Amino acid sequence: MKYDIGYLGGGQLARMSIQAAQRMGLRCLSLDPGADTPASQIADHVVAGFDDVNALSNVLSQCERVTLENEFISMLLLSGAANEADRDLGVYLPSPRTLGLINDKFAQREQYTSHGVPSPRAWSVGAVWGNDSFLEDVASRIGFPMVLKVRHGGYDGKGTMTIRSFEELRDSRSSWMSGGWLAEQFVPFKRELAVMVCRSESQTLTFPTMESVQTDHVCDLVFPANTDASDIAIKAVRAVEGFGLFGVELFELQDGSFMVNEIAPRPHNTGHYTLDWGGISQFEAHVRLVMGLPIPEPKGNETCMANLLGQEGAGDYQEGLKAAIQGDPEVHVHWYSKAEARPGRKMGHINAVGPDCRARAVAARERFYTAWRRA
Ligand SMILES: Nc1ncnc2c1ncn2[C@@H]1O[C@H](COP(=O)(O)OP(=O)(O)OP(=O)(O)O)[C@@H](O)[C@H]1O
Ligand SMILES: [Mg+2]
Repeated sequence: MKYDIGYLGGGQLARMSIQAAQRMGLRCLSLDPGADTPASQIADHVVAGFDDVNALSNVLSQCERVTLENEFISMLLLSGAANEADRDLGVYLPSPRTLGLINDKFAQREQYTSHGVPSPRAWSVGAVWGNDSFLEDVASRIGFPMVLKVRHGGYDGKGTMTIRSFEELRDSRSSWMSGGWLAEQFVPFKRELAVMVCRSESQTLTFPTMESVQTDHVCDLVFPANTDASDIAIKAVRAVEGFGLFGVELFELQDGSFMVNEIAPRPHNTGHYTLDWGGISQFEAHVRLVMGLPIPEPKGNETCMANLLGQEGAGDYQEGLKAAIQGDPEVHVHWYSKAEARPGRKMGHINAVGPDCRARAVAARERFYTAWRRA
């Protein structure tokens, strides 16, 4: 085989995982509809849509193992491609079965409920059920406020809306009538947490529980939560029969208990701090899981990550890079080299390590933004 690992998706997660794989001498290929992606700049790539079975089977016939960096690929297409390339479904990590349970947010919720994993109460809202009596039924099961979500394909809060009254639910009909949505209980959480889970046949390991702060539905800051949600995170991964690397997003309630929001079956934004914390990174863990290699206990220093988002009117990012590092040589800047810096898009991140890491990461990001906007 020409490649050791094929990545479905060529964004920053694939890029950073490929960087970890390349350090170990592994050969990687990515597939993405974009011609200039963070991954295509550092390794061979195929330009094709995720629904192109021929392209998927072409990747399969060139790669020993195949993994992914987004969960929006259909389980049926993956199975079809494996069939066409005459490969076993075991070539994929995570498995198409797990992916099928995750990429429909309603199926994911049902899986947690049936496995006794606390998660918001949910009900599906289908296009054919748009009459008032159905809405009354949804309202009585879920109550207000409720959160409406697209079942497939939502990310960065796109496809999520909070509904506060029956009238709002009825008025939003035109949005959710267009396709599969679910309605779920609004959780008045105290904090949002995340745990990275590694699971193989022989090991189940977790990275520390992190707090994640979202601004405008996009993750903004990640730092140690000083609590431990690893038990429920592991249960959630088991509930979706998950093997591989998973980012488990959770809510911490006022009484300190936890609920699972959702799982990402791949490296996750809340795990980027591990690139500089001194222990194994989530990307090396991802690569080792894909290659069937063991993982050491994830431990390292207290670290905070601040995302760098695209800014209106931004100039040369290197001015930001210099300002962040010149003001504090101890911080680490990661840049994904995306072709376009649309406002709000995740363009990179900054890690600061040590006891005052949160203040230093925020200050470094401020310097970065100020210089980048001026450039
Ligand atoms: N049931 C809920 N109750 C309260 N807030 C919620 C609920 N579900 C989601 N949210 C809020 O909306 C955000 C986005 O929701 P969710 O993670 O389900 O969607 P997403 O689009 O897949 O997001 P992302 O890609 O950022 O993970 C959550 O991080 C949380 O802040
Ligand atoms: Mg989420």
